Amino acid sequence: MNEMSAPDRNPVNLTEIREAEEDVGSNPSDNPTMGDIINRRFSRRGFLGGSLAVAAIGSTVSPLALMIADEARAEGMSAFSFDEVEAGVDETHHVAEGYDADVLLRWGDKVFADSPDFDPMNQTPESQMRQFGYNNDYIGFVPLDDVGDHGLLLVNHEYTNAELMFPGFAAVVTETVEKDGVATEVTKVKTGEFTRDIVDIEMAAHGGTVIEIRKQDGKWTPVLDGGMNRRLHLGTEMMISGPAAGHDRLRTTADPSGTRVFGTLNNCAGGVTPWGTWLMAEENFHGYFIGELPEGHAEVANYQRYGVPRGWYNWGAHHDRFDISRTPNEPNRFGWVVEVDPMDPNSVPRKRTALGRTKHEGAESVVNKDGRVVFYCGDDERFDYVYKFVTAASYNPDDRAANMDLLDDGTLYVARFNEDGTLDWLPLTHGEGPLTGENGFASQADVVIEARRAGDLLGATKMDRPEDVQPNAMTGKVYCMLTNNTRRKEGDENAANPRANNAFGHIIEINETDGDFTSTKSTWEILLKCGDPSVAEVGATFSSATSKDGWFGMPDNCAIDADGRLWVSTDGNSAKKTGRADGLWAVDTEGEARATSKLFFRVPVGAEMCGPLFDPKGETVFLAVQHPGDEGLATFEQPATRWPDFSQDMPVRPSVVTVTKQGGGKIGMG
Ligand code: FEO
Ligand code: CA
Ligand code: CA
Ligand code: CA
Repeated sequence: MNEMSAPDRNPVNLTEIREAEEDVGSNPSDNPTMGDIINRRFSRRGFLGGSLAVAAIGSTVSPLALMIADEARAEGMSAFSFDEVEAGVDETHHVAEGYDADVLLRWGDKVFADSPDFDPMNQTPESQMRQFGYNNDYIGFVPLDDVGDHGLLLVNHEYTNAELMFPGFAAVVTETVEKDGVATEVTKVKTGEFTRDIVDIEMAAHGGTVIEIRKQDGKWTPVLDGGMNRRLHLGTEMMISGPAAGHDRLRTTADPSGTRVFGTLNNCAGGVTPWGTWLMAEENFHGYFIGELPEGHAEVANYQRYGVPRGWYNWGAHHDRFDISRTPNEPNRFGWVVEVDPMDPNSVPRKRTALGRTKHEGAESVVNKDGRVVFYCGDDERFDYVYKFVTAASYNPDDRAANMDLLDDGTLYVARFNEDGTLDWLPLTHGEGPLTGENGFASQADVVIEARRAGDLLGATKMDRPEDVQPNAMTGKVYCMLTNNTRRKEGDENAANPRANNAFGHIIEINETDGDFTSTKSTWEILLKCGDPSVAEVGATFSSATSKDGWFGMPDNCAIDADGRLWVSTDGNSAKKTGRADGLWAVDTEGEARATSKLFFRVPVGAEMCGPLFDPKGETVFLAVQHPGDEGLATFEQPATRWPDFSQDMPVRPSVVTVTKQGGGKIGMG
């Protein structure tokens, strides 16, 4: 064990560290809060749930609530039809009865016909570059036939858990820690030395995978000799385009042009564009840098606003570009949305700086009725903002090549959620309002590089960790997942983030005016405040038809299926926090059933639910089970589960799962 290794993992595991770090937030702006405003925008059903909850305080769920839930379901108001999974936590996954959940791709699986077999005891960077990466997150699908049974699966590999990946690397130790003169025994996972080899395997396990898949006899399988199969990682050459390309602040000794960068990291959620390219959102890039900026360096305030350097990883010990004392501008080359053309395995991915530099959660899009394309992005940190980007030019459905640079030119907006239920989309345009040289914005390049500070000056609304933001083309509505924010204090609430100590998060529904997604004045309301509706203090607003299994906390990613229905996946539920594992929930948004939720799939212990993606026919849902086994004092030797192989020879493995209905048919339809 090496005491000096950079990522000090005092909290017992990496997930807890990340959670604790995200807790801090780094928004110092004094954008207005409205402490005395209480959100009164309950739907009727939501309010009913709230009053029921008062009656049920102290019990898990009241008999009255159960009775009403049964009645509501009997009325058949929900747009979903399936037998709900029982909430809970154990070593494996569970899916609704009548459905099959099959593991499609696991960490270490071959991506190419000639990839080496996975050998967890003898990993190398070279083998990892040919195998499926770690911690699958976003999943995209690009069809290769008219039927939808053949296509390219696009998968982000967000980050690595070295303590679960490498044999003999981490151990559970008990140490005496002295604090304020009191000695306390602390038991924790202690990691070993981050050697060059370990770091290079970590870098190869990040990025993404393009892999051809085919459905035969109702089951999906990877096509290993698919001509478009590809692994992207930290060694993949990429270009930087848009307003910040070539700017001084992006130039380094290795790249004096400021337009070429190797790799992408912490790719969380993402999107597929209408023209079939893949967007990979770079999220917590701050965690990959170590060192100190040279004295008096111009980027001090910029890096503070993004939490750089955070030192979760020790890459900088072996690669100068991740040490800001040696390569001060490198952090300006991350935090972007990366566009990849999956149809050409030799294409050079592009970091599209016009969409701004934040901790991007996703980049889901919709073609507006006038042909322009609108992208929605959350900046996942406590007290940060929601953004949208509107292309300047229109999408051309008949000429794919004509769309390839649409993302370089357009308007980036940040959201201000007003207390009267209106929403202003404020343009982050150089020269407008406060975004001028006087405030340190010499050009649009400065605006996108410091998108957060631009949002501060415009008076954007500080949100409770905005994650996936998903437009619904069928309704003109947009769903925004707010995971949680336990740092929001009483008095700091605002109408759109109405709960202090918001442990369970909420979902906002934006109604873009007249179905025009480019609208700059829209309306919003809270669809759902999450948490246990039977505990009054929680203030959850699930409908009364929601069962004891149906409620959830910490909404994170989401998807709209082929029938325009909303599905929500979660990050952070556990036995301790909510008595349930993370999973995929079906959430009604329309009519009397609005805010009714049902559990469809749940992950094994320690995992978070990512993905979710429905195929164009709505007959398959692709799910990413991320960091399974990462619970408590988990190591390679002693994970909290050995899912999905359940073999002593195999570590626990993050995997992509396909869910299909037995005998075929649409997911969640009767
Ligand atoms: Fe990668 Fe915001 O979760
Ligand atoms: Ca996530
Ligand atoms: Ca999504
Ligand atoms: Ca999350």
